[in-house]
Formats: sequence, structure tokens, C-alpha cells
Amino acid sequence: MFGSKVQRLVSLAGLFAISLPTLIAADDSIIGNITLPVWNHPTGVVGAATPQVTACANAGNIAVTYNEGPSDVTSKVLNGLKNNQARGNFFVNATWLYTQQYAMILQRAYNDGHFIGMTYRVPNDNPAAMNDDQLKQDILNDAKTIQTLIGVSPKYVRLHYTDPPDTRTEHILSDLGFTLVGYNLDTQDYNFKTNPTGVADVYRKTFHTQQETYDSLGSFVSVQYDIPDTGSYLAVNDVVKAIHENGYTMVRLDGCLNDKTPYKSAADAKTFVGDKFSFGTPGYHQGQTLAPADAKDSNVTSSNGEVSDKAAAAPKSSASIINGSVMAVVISSVVSFVAAQF
Ligand SMILES: *[C@@H]1O[C@H](CO)[C@@H](O)[C@H](O)[C@H]1NC(C)=O
Ligand SMILES: *[C@@H]1O[C@H](CO)[C@@H](O)[C@H](O)[C@H]1NC(C)=O
Ligand SMILES: *[C@@H]1O[C@H](CO)[C@@H](O)[C@H](O)[C@H]1NC(C)=O
Ligand SMILES: *[C@@H]1O[C@H](CO)[C@@H](O)[C@H](O)[C@H]1NC(C)=O
Repeated sequence: MFGSKVQRLVSLAGLFAISLPTLIAADDSIIGNITLPVWNHPTGVVGAATPQVTACANAGNIAVTYNEGPSDVTSKVLNGLKNNQARGNFFVNATWLYTQQYAMILQRAYNDGHFIGMTYRVPNDNPAAMNDDQLKQDILNDAKTIQTLIGVSPKYVRLHYTDPPDTRTEHILSDLGFTLVGYNLDTQDYNFKTNPTGVADVYRKTFHTQQETYDSLGSFVSVQYDIPDTGSYLAVNDVVKAIHENGYTMVRLDGCLNDKTPYKSAADAKTFVGDKFSFGTPGYHQGQTLAPADAKDSNVTSSNGEVSDKAAAAPKSSASIINGSVMAVVISSVVSFVAAQF
């Protein structure tokens, strides 16, 4: 199952090969009330790409993002972050959330204070097969699935990479009130499955190049994958250490962007809201405290228990979530939502 994913990721490697960070907010695009650092590409041009978040507003900040979970290794990533009192940003694949164990991992990530965004990929990578309304519905269904589990809808979305860029879907997302998130530090963690120390080395090299070139701290949005096919779940301590030792502060995306309302009140709403962990509230946390040297990412007790093989648990139907044992965990609105959907 992950074979094709790996091939896909590896093919990305060439395309994104060492894009040395576009560090400067070349085009300050105002989205809502916040100023986003974005790619320097034309906006307001029909068919042009929409603005994307690719860096933080403040020098010295880094938002570490994880794509495409929850998976069997997400608990390990969460344990590693917890040991370092650090916050990450999880762009989740809503497809997995119909399976109880992954729905619970998402809730744990949220309750641990991490930031939740959404990855979106057009079904069969074929936007031409869908009209605008169908695409909208598909996007909103994914966002609703996340909303039912954490109480707020994602606002920040990472669109699956395509070449050429799918500007139509980008604009649909944007029209629905979502903000696209890119990155300026690609760890290429899919190349480091058997050599996880390589992941932190990418951070070190990037920080070093930044320092050599600009003689100052930059700001970064990095990308990793919390799936078993990358070395990321084994690299958490090492990555936090590399970040810390180079003088950077780990932030959630809302802190990265000074956004006090980093979620939508509902998937199909354009009202933006904060929650008890958001930037500007007492529950907001940024920064990191290095775990004791003997803490091993792979040797921490999961508060969630072990999860079974993801392939075996691939979502076949929603049945697994409509299950007495899940209902106790999942907030009650989920049940009515899931029931309404099926
Ligand atoms: C955003 O800008 C509008 C219009 O200027 C203002 O009414 C609103 O209070 C602002 N919201 C925030 C969160 O600053
Ligand atoms: C989510 O996972 C499903 C099942 O593997 C896959 O078909 C879909 O493309 C994924 N979505 C994203 C955004 O990666
Ligand atoms: C895990 O940690 C425990 C307690 O610190 C230790 O006794 C055990 O040997 C460790 N196991 C591994 C595989 O490192
Ligand atoms: C709930 O899930 C468990 C474990 O997957 C399963 O054994 C049980 O039959 C399910 N219960 C219902 C009511 O579906």
C-alpha cells in the first residue's frame, strides 16, 4: 500500500530538490487580517497560483509540519514531541479518520496542543473528472470529518503536489476560506527511512546555509511525513536538538503567522475562530525543552497504546467508528455527523 506512496514521494524529491529557502516575504499578501509570507508569484491574475504560506512571520521561528497521517507511527512522533515539550503541525489525511484508532490519534495530537491542518488530494488525481461543486463537496467532507473529531474545522490546507499546479483546486480551496500552506524547508525524509539521522542533518545544513548567506536567523516551514515509510518518526529528538542548537524556536502555525483565529468555526463557514491552544491564549505554547539525552523516540510508552498495522486497518467503511467503544471517546457531535453521512 505504501509502495506507491513512496514512489510518489520520491518523484517529488527531484522536483523540489534543495529549494534553498525563499526566506524573504517577497509579497506580503493580506489574507483576512494577517499578513502571510508568500511565494513571490503574481496574484490577482486569472489562473495564477493562490498565495501560500511558506515561511513564518518572525525570524527565528520554525513550524515543523507533518503530512498525511495519522498513521501507525504518529504516536511515536507525538511521544517525541512531548518529551521535548515541543509543538508540531499535523496536516492530516481525513480518509484515515474513519478508522477508530486513527481518529483517536488525531484527538490525542489535538489534545497534546499540536496544530491541526488538512492535506487534500483530488480523488484519482483527476480534477477534470469533477465539476466545481463536486470538488467543493469533497473538500468540505474532509474538513467536516476533522471538525467532528476536534470541534473546529481546519483552515490551513496543504494541497497534494501536482505538476502543473492545480490552480483550479487552489482557487476553490481559497474561495471556501481555506489558506494554502507550502514550505521552504523540505527534509526529504522519504530518503531517510533507514538513516533517520539524515533528517536532522537537512535542518542543520539549511540553518548553516542561512547563517552563511544572511548572517541572521531565517524563518521556516518544514515538511516531514508521519508515515512509516519515512525516517521521521525516529528522528524527532534529533530534529528538535538541531533546531534548538541553531537558535530556532519551534512554533505552531498560528504562532508562525501571528494568527489568533487559525481554524474555521465549521467546514463550510468562513468564520475564523481560535481555541484553547491558539496563539494569543494562555494555552498557547511554543519553544522546546530538550529531552534528557537518554530519551529514545522509540522507547517511550505510548499513552495511546499500540496501534495495529495500518494496511490491515485501511478504511473500508465507516462501520468501525460507529462503535460503542469509540463513542465514548469521540465527541458526541461526531456520531450524529457520521450517522448523517452514511
Ligand atoms: C479584521 O479587520 C476587520 C476590518 O478592519 C475588523 O473589523 C476586525 O475586527 C479585524 N479582526 C481581527 C481579528 O483583528
Ligand atoms: C489519503 O489516503 C488515501 C488512502 O491511502 C489516499 O487515496 C488519498 O489520496 C490520501 N489523501 C492525501 C491528501 O494524501
Ligand atoms: C526502554 O527504557 C527502559 C527504561 O528506561 C529500559 O529499561 C529499557 O532497556 C529500554 N528499552 C530499549 C529497547 O531501549
Ligand atoms: C467495536 O469494535 C470492536 C473492535 O474493532 C469489535 O470487536 C466490536 O465488534 C465492535 N462493536 C460493534 C458494536 O460494532
